[in-house]
Amino acid sequence: METVFSGIQPTGELHLGNYLGAVRTWVTLQDQYRCFYCIVDYHAITQPYEPAQMPARARAMAIDLLACGIDPDRATLFIQSAVPEHTELAWVLSSVTPFGELGRMTQFKDKSEHHPDNVNAGIFNYPVLQTADILLYGATRVPVGEDQRQHLELAREIVRRFNARFGDTFVEPQPLFSTTPKILGLDGHAKMSKSLGNTIALAETEAAIWDKLRTAATDPARAKRSDPGTPEKCNIFTLHKFFSDADRQAAVHAGCTTAGIGCIDCKKMLFEGVKADLGRIAARAEALRADPARVDEILARGAAEARKVAASTMARVRERLGLRAAGA
Ligand code: TRP
Repeated sequence: METVFSGIQPTGELHLGNYLGAVRTWVTLQDQYRCFYCIVDYHAITQPYEPAQMPARARAMAIDLLACGIDPDRATLFIQSAVPEHTELAWVLSSVTPFGELGRMTQFKDKSEHHPDNVNAGIFNYPVLQTADILLYGATRVPVGEDQRQHLELAREIVRRFNARFGDTFVEPQPLFSTTPKILGLDGHAKMSKSLGNTIALAETEAAIWDKLRTAATDPARAKRSDPGTPEKCNIFTLHKFFSDADRQAAVHAGCTTAGIGCIDCKKMLFEGVKADLGRIAARAEALRADPARVDEILARGAAEARKVAASTMARVRERLGLRAAGA
């Protein structure tokens, strides 16, 4: 069985974009792969943050992931900082990572441009830590979005350089690009993201969710109720593909293109599906929040499983490097 690794930042809450774009895929991969899912707190510290809030952010993310269907009996769910080998391997890999390549990463350039006051070496080295995450578990498949393509290519380059210098040690990881349509934010323009405030958090109340859907952007060509629309150009129709069955999708499509229904009718139909799906997730999250010992136990077990694999990889790596050879 091939191994899958993926990571998610401890933003404190999962939103619709993470859920539809990534986590639903993670859930289905559990059947076909040995899966490691990691809450990457060491990546998160490259941005300004409040240390006192970090434990709660990581924990809330774990609860949301479990509520979405990550199953601790079929996947290893853990917090990155519980496994110190991540940072150890990152240092090792940084010695075979070309400086120029890191400087060419578009995510690094974007972050430096948008936050000129916070251009630290951690942001620069971010893709090296990400590579360490993957290689520690010998993962050959990494489910990622388009935005991570370049980082994964770099990971493959790092593997080639390491193997060439120290002998065959790692396998080049391959991306598993998602086939799900791109999820735009409620503004209908930018990618859905928490920092842009154009999303719905999974934990929001039904009233709050409806309020956001009600005012979300639709096909701009439907200025009036009597204007027919083009569902393919409407972000709400994209969401129907996730939350509505084939019959409802067909009804919405017909209603929109003939102006038989208005955007509000279409959104009400979407809301039915959203309520059912997110309601189920919210109920599971609620049950987990009421049982903190169970969450502790799951994360401790995940960390122990991860540590075992990570420790054996690092032992092999140190041997290749000629470090701690005398068992010191
Ligand atoms: N950088 C990724 C993100 O922000 C998260 C991540 C960290 C990751 N390590 C990873 C994803 C390893 C895939 C593989 O989305």
